[in-house]
Amino acid sequence: MRITVLTGAGISAESGIRTFRATDGLWEEHRIEDVATPQGFQRDPALVHRFYNQRRADAARAQPNAAHRALAQLAQHHQVTLVTQNVDDLHERGGSPEVIHMHGSLLGALCAGCGHRWPAVLVMRALDPCPACGKPLTRPDIVWFGEIPYHMDRIWEAVQSADLFAAIGTSGMVYPAAGMAQYARRNGVDTIELNLASSAVSRDFTDRRIGKATKVVPDWVATLCR
Ligand code: NAD
Ligand code: APR
Repeated sequence: MRITVLTGAGISAESGIRTFRATDGLWEEHRIEDVATPQGFQRDPALVHRFYNQRRADAARAQPNAAHRALAQLAQHHQVTLVTQNVDDLHERGGSPEVIHMHGSLLGALCAGCGHRWPAVLVMRALDPCPACGKPLTRPDIVWFGEIPYHMDRIWEAVQSADLFAAIGTSGMVYPAAGMAQYARRNGVDTIELNLASSAVSRDFTDRRIGKATKVVPDWVATLCR
């Protein structure tokens, strides 16, 4: 079966990585416009690097959980396209063979001048020179608000051609990810939502599993890998 899976911050919550919109969420301590927009980076690159250096350190300390590992197992039994809004590498470290990071990755660096990409170091600094053009315009290779998420053509194709679309641990607050379930249904694709609670787009799903990802995801995968 062709299964397209979209994950959000909720799948990494039990690995100790805070989500964005929970009460102790990431955005509570920072104004989104200060740390996750191109304007914020232009205004104060050092603050943006501090925010992402902390997230990079948190992610490096975190371990993949049973939900990440269950999705790796699912890929051994079905044709799985795994799309994540997360910028951590827990899917890869949990054994998933291929992960599409639509919001970029903490492990990537990007030159805001020439667009060159290279592997990020643990602590990135504003004045680090770009290895290609030498300009001190190094930024995290993360998609910020107002920017275009990566790999969308491939993602829309994977959603519409799937037999099943599953969304795990995402609030459905941010587009284009939040529009994927509706797009799946318009293309006759079955949809299932796995989340701690209902999301802003729960109405777009025909099935759901409510509970912690480390419980509901392995249970769901077990029903598909019998
Ligand atoms: P958008 O305009 O589609 O979404 C904006 C959304 O951000 C709103 O719907 C709201 O849910 C949320 N939002 C805005 N202000 C907020 C706040 N103060 N606190 C909490 N949530 C807030 O997003 P966009 O401008 O099209 O962004 C482009 C893409 O960049 C999106 O897919 C977005 O998810 C992504 N992004 C990635 C990161 C990251 O750290 N990986 C950070 C920001 C944005
Ligand atoms: N198990 C399952 N779901 C969980 C768990 C858990 N243990 N903990 C939290 N959740 C769910 C919450 O119910 C919520 O629906 O995870 C979701 C987290 O929502 P957000 O914090 O909004 O994270 P996300 O949906 O990934 O945000 C989307 O917005 O800020 C941008 O680019 C950023 O990628 C992010 C995007």
